[in-house]
Amino acid sequence: MKIRILGRDLEVSEIGFGCMGMSHAYGTVSTQKEAEELIEKAIDEGCTFFDTAEIYGTTEDPHHNEKLLGEVLRPYRNKIVLASKCGIRFDETATTVNKPLIPDGRPETIKASIEGSLMRLNTDHLDLYYIHRIDMTVPIEETAGAMKELMEQGKITHWGLSEASEEIIRRAHKVCPVTAIQNRYSMMYRDYEKLFPVLEELKIGFVAFSPLANGLLTAAYHSHGEFEKPGDYRSAMPQFTEEGLKENNEFMSWMKVIAEEKNVTPAQISLAWMLAKKPYIVPIPGTRKVNRLEENMESADIKLTQDEVKSIDEMLAHMPMSQVFGGSKIQKK
Ligand SMILES: NC(=O)c1ccc[n+]([C@@H]2O[C@H](COP(=O)([O-])OP(=O)(O)OC[C@H]3O[C@@H](n4cnc5c(N)ncnc54)[C@H](OP(=O)(O)O)[C@@H]3O)[C@@H](O)[C@H]2O)c1
Repeated sequence: MKIRILGRDLEVSEIGFGCMGMSHAYGTVSTQKEAEELIEKAIDEGCTFFDTAEIYGTTEDPHHNEKLLGEVLRPYRNKIVLASKCGIRFDETATTVNKPLIPDGRPETIKASIEGSLMRLNTDHLDLYYIHRIDMTVPIEETAGAMKELMEQGKITHWGLSEASEEIIRRAHKVCPVTAIQNRYSMMYRDYEKLFPVLEELKIGFVAFSPLANGLLTAAYHSHGEFEKPGDYRSAMPQFTEEGLKENNEFMSWMKVIAEEKNVTPAQISLAWMLAKKPYIVPIPGTRKVNRLEENMESADIKLTQDEVKSIDEMLAHMPMSQVFGGSKIQKK
């Protein structure tokens, strides 16, 4: 797989591996053996970019994902780019499937979080450390200043922001150059295309999370009943309600047709589409299944022309589709 450059100099594979689902939000949690098989397959496919966060876990083990990766990535640590995130916690009092998030961008929180992440991930530094959501009660300059300190101490080498707006990106970048933003981006969620000019101006990469619209774009899901309750967030996502699935019927049929025309799968078209859009976009699809991981990674071999991208965009602009999950609610402090 080819590499892409995030920011000034962070070299990552064109497609990264979003590791969240192995521990969080999609129901059954992966065993260590399953995780080892997934990571081994990802490495075999040329993937060098692995994404986690301090909050990806289960009720019993809130940091499950970092601990799991700390074990299974150990043999590959020096050959990969490891990214994690800090700066939010769940509102544990909530009873909803996806608990609201409470942002906390205070420097003291970031400095405490990095120690936990380094320990769990069995490493002395992270290659990319994101603030997971923007805390509107803390000036972003303070958060950026804390990231700068972590860099000076060698605990991180690059930093980024997740779900950031242009104004926040510009302010943060002035204090400490930002390597990447990690925002939601898929054929169903294109709002952040408006950030392309600023990312180009400041030379910041775009790591696309939930690039398959949480799985919908694979055209593999047909019934709301397929999702485990209560642990699977998809049971509460608008694109996967019975009504949402019905609203997306025509869209999914079209996805299958354009995929068949290229002799690939809908998941692969979804990822190839964003790879063709900009050279600084790096999708990080997640899966707990080795065959799907292979399918997703091999999207890097599919080349779409700019005319093909344009015609897909034109169809997307008119295609009836449901709302798509926009993330867990942000709780005011
Ligand atoms: N910064 C943030 O706030 C944020 C938020 C969400 C996610 N993320 C990151 O982004 C990564 C990816 O996002 P995501 O996992 O939410 O969404 P996604 O990659 O769009 O979709 C993942 C879902 O699709 C299914 N899937 C994946 N490949 C498939 C295929 N080829 N065929 C059929 N089904 C397939 C997976 O199910 P199976 O596991 O059963 O295969 C999983 O349920 C996460 O792992 C995480 O690292 C970041």
